[in-house]
Amino acid sequence: MRELIDKLEETKTLSRNEFKKLLFCGNDYLFKRARSVADAVYGKNIFMRGLIEFTNHCKNDCLYCGIRAGNKKAARYRLSKDEILDCCKKGYALGFRTFVLQGGEDLYYTDDVLTDIISDIRTAYKDCAITLSIGERSAESYAKLRKAGADRYLLRHETANETHYRSLHPKNMSPANRKQCLYELKKSGYQVGCGFMVGSPGQTPDHIVDDLLFIKELQPHMAGIGPFIPHSDTPLGGSWAGGLRLTLNLLSILRLMQPNLLIPATTALGTIDPQGREHGILAGANVVMPNLSPISVRDKYLLYDNKICTGDEAAECVNCMRTRIKSIGYELTVSRGDCIF
Ligand code: 5AD
Ligand code: FES
Repeated sequence: MRELIDKLEETKTLSRNEFKKLLFCGNDYLFKRARSVADAVYGKNIFMRGLIEFTNHCKNDCLYCGIRAGNKKAARYRLSKDEILDCCKKGYALGFRTFVLQGGEDLYYTDDVLTDIISDIRTAYKDCAITLSIGERSAESYAKLRKAGADRYLLRHETANETHYRSLHPKNMSPANRKQCLYELKKSGYQVGCGFMVGSPGQTPDHIVDDLLFIKELQPHMAGIGPFIPHSDTPLGGSWAGGLRLTLNLLSILRLMQPNLLIPATTALGTIDPQGREHGILAGANVVMPNLSPISVRDKYLLYDNKICTGDEAAECVNCMRTRIKSIGYELTVSRGDCIF
C-alpha cells in the first residue's frame, strides 16, 4: 500500500485498478501523507465558511434529499434579504470572511432578487468572499450573479457516472447538464467547487473512480465530499449510510491528487461520527462550514436524518469548532481562505 500512496503523492494520479485498491486501504499512512501535503500548502490553518441556508423550497426531486419537492412533510421557509444580511452581520463579528448562500432550487429567487441580495452583501462586506450554492441555472444567470459580486459557486456533481446519476435523480435531470454547469461557472470566473456523496445507494468502486477522474479533469478549487445519510421521508430512506473510513480515504486521495484543493470536513461527516470532522481534518481536509442560519429555521434544512448542530447558536458552533480544531493541533483562521495557486 505504501508504494501506491507514494506513487499518488508523486504523480498525482493512478490507474483505475490502483485507485480501487486505495479506496479500501486500511493503513493510516494514507492520512499521514495527505495531512503533510495539506500542511505544506496551507500550514496549520483551517478556513471557515458561514453557511446561510436561505431557502428549503426546491423544484427538484432528487431521491436522496430531504428537501426534495416530493417531501410533503418538509416545513418550507425562505429568509428575507434583511434576515440574510443579519446572518452576515453576526457571522462577520464571529470572524467569518466567507458567506455561503445555500438553498434548494427555488424559483422565487430570480436573478433580480438574488442580484439585489448579493450586491448588498458585496457593498457591506468588501473583504469577504460570497459563495453561492443554489444549483443548476443558465450560463447567463451565472454571469449576472458573478457580476453582482459572487466569487465562488458550489455545485456538487453528485456522481460522475451517467447510469448511477440517473438512478438517483428524476428523469428531467441529467449528468451532462450538471457537468456543463460546472464548466460554465468556471468560464464565468467563479472559483468552483464540485463534489459527491460517499456510499450513496448503488455506488460502486468504479463509480467512485469516475468521480476522481472527473475531478482530475475539472480541476476545481474546492471539492466537497461527505457520506450519504438516509432521510426517512425520501425513497432512499431505508438505505445504509456511507462509511467513515471510505470517506476519510477519499479526502486523503483528493488531497494527494490536488494538493491545493479546498476540502471541507463536512457536517455529514460530523453526523456519522462524533469526531468525524476532526478525523476529516487529520485526513487532509482544511475547511469547516459552521451554520449561520437563524436558529428558527435550523431544524427545517434537513437534507438527511440526525443532522448535528440544529439546536446551536452560530456562536456556540464557532467556539465548539475552534476548540475541536485546537485539540488536534490546528487553528481556526479568520480569512477569506482562497485557494492557493
Ligand atoms: N446525505 C448526504 N448528503 C446529502 N446531500 C443531499 N442529500 C443528502 C443526504 N441524504 C448533499 C448533496 C448536495 C449537498 C448540498 O448535500 O450532495 O449537493
Ligand atoms: Fe456546532 Fe459543535 S460545531 S455545536
